[in-house]
Amino acid sequence: MEKKENPKCPSSEVDNNPEDEFQALLQTLEQQTNWDGQRLVKYNGFWLLELLFRPILSARKYFKAKATDVILSTMPKSGTTWLKALTFSIANRSVFPIDQSPLLTSNPHKVVPALEFNLYWGKENPDPELIPDPRILSTHIPFEMLPDSIRESDCRIIYVSRNPLDVFISHRHFLLENKFAKDAVPLALDEAFDMFCQGIHPFGPFWDHMLGYWNAHLKNPERVLFLKYEDLKEDILSNVKKIAEFIGSPFSPEEEKQGVVEQISRLCSFENLKNLEVNKSGNVLGLMKNSSFFRKGEVGDCVNFLTPEMAERIKNLMEREFQGSGLIYNI
Ligand code: A3P
Repeated sequence: MEKKENPKCPSSEVDNNPEDEFQALLQTLEQQTNWDGQRLVKYNGFWLLELLFRPILSARKYFKAKATDVILSTMPKSGTTWLKALTFSIANRSVFPIDQSPLLTSNPHKVVPALEFNLYWGKENPDPELIPDPRILSTHIPFEMLPDSIRESDCRIIYVSRNPLDVFISHRHFLLENKFAKDAVPLALDEAFDMFCQGIHPFGPFWDHMLGYWNAHLKNPERVLFLKYEDLKEDILSNVKKIAEFIGSPFSPEEEKQGVVEQISRLCSFENLKNLEVNKSGNVLGLMKNSSFFRKGEVGDCVNFLTPEMAERIKNLMEREFQGSGLIYNI
């Protein structure tokens, strides 16, 4: 049964945090079933995976950002894994030589923890001080819903966006591969696509997710870097330098001469990471296969699955939603 949405729900609503208070809040929210069988709840206009709702509320309530933090934000399947590998390697290049990088033996999602999947997963108020400075953390939380301390502190936020059609196809494969709702029979592709176009998908609507970070970037480009997956694919070297400058750690002329930018780009490339033993087996949190984070790594794979009419529908949707924002996606 679908429930009514609670339009505004500040984090203080879970102040005392007993389980029944959380459950009571949950009951007030509109709910849906994603096409793969996972439960979604609508909170402040965004569809969140029910299993992440509690960790997200806890992060909103307890997380204290520091000016030195770097927060990597994405819609799922927009390039999170790549951004994690790149930012970690750039920030830690004086600690780990390339041939001793932790990425050679650990999946990027183990190297850079996520607020809602790792830090606050099953823990109401963990001690984030356990992560050494400068902390690099990731999240899928929409900009408007981030913990206040992230939005208000001087920490850096890097957002990577991706053509929504490729996001949809990538997510489709990822969810079918990992089967989070074991007993569910997934909906057909066209039905799933229809839900996506209605904005009913994890962390959707995609246009509001993208616009939230886009507008934050326009308002404060020193604090919010807005990247596109397609641009990284086209020119990784200049984007590696851009990330380094943005986090206050630009490459020295000496490093550039030694080819450090190229080395980091190569280490984090799709081909290299996909073929590492660590990423061929094992899983993240016992839920997601390491290998499922590395599928094709291409731009425009959506044409192999979606009709021109489907592409046209998203194009019209984006024209309408992004009108006047300056955010453009060529699809
Ligand atoms: P495809 O399914 O289109 O191949 P996320 O990291 O946000 O979960 O996104 C996963 C998508 O990024 C997948 O896209 C995956 O193959 C791609 N990807 C993962 N690592 C990458 C890398 N190092 N370079 C380019 N693409 C990468």
